[in-house]
Amino acid sequence: MTEEKQYPFKPLNFSRLSPEEQLENSQNFLTTLQKRRTVRQFSTDPVAFELIQNAIRAAGTAPSGANLQPWTFVVVEDGEIKRQIRQAAEEEEKEFYASKITPEWREALAPLGTDWIKTHLEDAPYLIVVFEQTYRVEETRTARRML
Ligand SMILES: Cc1cc2nc3c(=O)[nH]c(=O)nc-3n(C[C@H](O)[C@H](O)[C@H](O)COP(=O)(O)O)c2cc1C
Repeated sequence: MTEEKQYPFKPLNFSRLSPEEQLENSQNFLTTLQKRRTVRQFSTDPVAFELIQNAIRAAGTAPSGANLQPWTFVVVEDGEIKRQIRQAAEEEEKEFYASKITPEWREALAPLGTDWIKTHLEDAPYLIVVFEQTYRVEETRTARRML
């Protein structure tokens, strides 16, 4: 039998909002989301690392099955590693655009004017690489006792 996992539960503290407050909050949230855009060009200007930390903290609030949070975020600042990531992405994308793409997908992408060139992967001061955890190794009882 597997041991039950223990972690602290936080009580959900909320107060019921008036209909006016609900409307205002929903409008503000919608306005914020409407400002989100996919960006394919980035400035090379430095960015405060805390902004990156907060972006990852925000992403980490996403719900997940059984709260397993099956993700790993890796922040890349090193220019050489960014270059290698760009190179790998461009090789993949070049092959995709040359031979793997379906006519329907090509047509859907056409208005966006995107191609296989990924300059932004080197321009951005930081890359956040997201890995899916498809499996995990459980701690053994012996290992846990050692901690
Ligand atoms: C699953 C997924 C795959 C995407 N693939 C690409 C892509 O290969 N190339 C690209 O330039 N944008 C890609 N995008 C961005 C979409 O083109 C973009 O979200 C869409 O055009 C709407 O624009 P917006 O995000 O600025 O609202 C992708 C978005 C998602 C969610």
